[in-house]
Amino acid sequence: MVKKEKDSELMEKIVSLCKRRGFVYQGSEIYGGLAGTWDYGPYGVALKNNVKNLWWKKFVTDREDMYGVDAAILMNQNVWKATGHVGGFSDPLVACDKCKKRFRADQVAGYDLKEKKGKCPECDKGNLSEPKQFNMMFKTHAGALEDDTSVSYLRPETAQGMFVNYKNIIDSFHPKLPFGLAQIGKAFRNEIAPRDFIFRTREFEQMEIEYLIRPEGWQDTFEHFRSEMQNWTKEIGLNSTHVHELEVPDADRAFYSKRTIDFEFDFPFGKSELYGLAYRTDYDLGRHSKESGTDLIYLDEEKKEKLTPHCIEPSFGVDRTVLAILCDAYTEDKMNDEVRAYLKFTPKMAPVKVAVFPLLKNKTQLVEKAREIYKNLKTEFGGVEFDDNGNVGKRYRRQDEIGTPYCVTVDFDTVEKDQMVTVRDRDTGEQERVEVKELVAYLKSKLS
Ligand code: GAP
Repeated sequence: MVKKEKDSELMEKIVSLCKRRGFVYQGSEIYGGLAGTWDYGPYGVALKNNVKNLWWKKFVTDREDMYGVDAAILMNQNVWKATGHVGGFSDPLVACDKCKKRFRADQVAGYDLKEKKGKCPECDKGNLSEPKQFNMMFKTHAGALEDDTSVSYLRPETAQGMFVNYKNIIDSFHPKLPFGLAQIGKAFRNEIAPRDFIFRTREFEQMEIEYLIRPEGWQDTFEHFRSEMQNWTKEIGLNSTHVHELEVPDADRAFYSKRTIDFEFDFPFGKSELYGLAYRTDYDLGRHSKESGTDLIYLDEEKKEKLTPHCIEPSFGVDRTVLAILCDAYTEDKMNDEVRAYLKFTPKMAPVKVAVFPLLKNKTQLVEKAREIYKNLKTEFGGVEFDDNGNVGKRYRRQDEIGTPYCVTVDFDTVEKDQMVTVRDRDTGEQERVEVKELVAYLKSKLS
């Protein structure tokens, strides 16, 4: 819904922190930006990679029934004709007769879809037009000729890259039903009204599974993925009370879906879709069989039966995951009589796991020892930073702000007396002395 943000101040703080600290920047910013595009900086990439790597581990490598693919973004235009996207992947576009702004009719509070009229939510003066269907696929041409035969589209979902590879997987691996194809990749939609930072963008990433089954008992597979999706939201550190399931009513479901559950999240701008789980029946494989002329059937050798498999599709947006994690992690409190803002990431998601400081930057013995510890921790944990700028208090604040769970300080006692370092906890600010030789094991147990 287009509406005033419920907590626009919080959203502004998150967007500002993301820019200031190198998580997310406006796309093409020095040229005035390009609506609906965002660029990820070093910490944003690390956070996104943590999301994607954990997802791939949980849903692909930790299982025996998943086949990963990485299909081309540009596909034969007939793929999108077969699925109905060319004719029907559209949103109802309405425009204001005064300020000329454009909106998605179904997202304007108060727009009457039956009467086809409503007031402009932006200028509050104009009337909105009747809706026109606007196709959201980005069209392009493959090759030097720009005619109808060279038309291609930037894929609006990763799903079809898996359906068109169904036969390849069958031929190469001979899997038995049930099994799934999984993919992480970019998708593009020419959204009428991109909004809310990285929530609704024109270029985004999806993590999708097309899980193929016999139709009988589809409910069990649906329930399995429903609970796996719930578990996933916990594993990435989302507060369970902020995640809600919405049984999508018949009228709002895609025509090919027999059941859809949306997983919604309490974003600062309101409760909105995070993920979707759909029972797509045999629609996609059936359509591709018919339109490509390639038999996409499954031969059940035990039952001596040929069938078109049905599909359960758990679909996750990477960018919405990142936004939900940022929203839940953003915390303000008071420490040592100072207000601090920090990101309370679950350790698995933190871009930097540990930061190492020498107490003073101009004392060679401290810097050398801190560098040695830093290098050792970096090989163990990957995301480790060395920081010797400003005083230790300021370094803590900087690391808190990017969500680093632990900071390690090397002081004079470390090198002259006890071979121990100070480990400081981001959330409580508590400090503990830990022996250097025990440090990796100590941090491993804390971070796991
Ligand atoms: N293959 C099914 C499919 O694409 P969808 O509900 O249109 O279903 C799945 O999209 C997920 O992709 C959404 O739940 C959301 O997380 C993400 N998503 C969709 N459109 C998006 C956009 N414009 N910007 C960011 N993420 C988007």
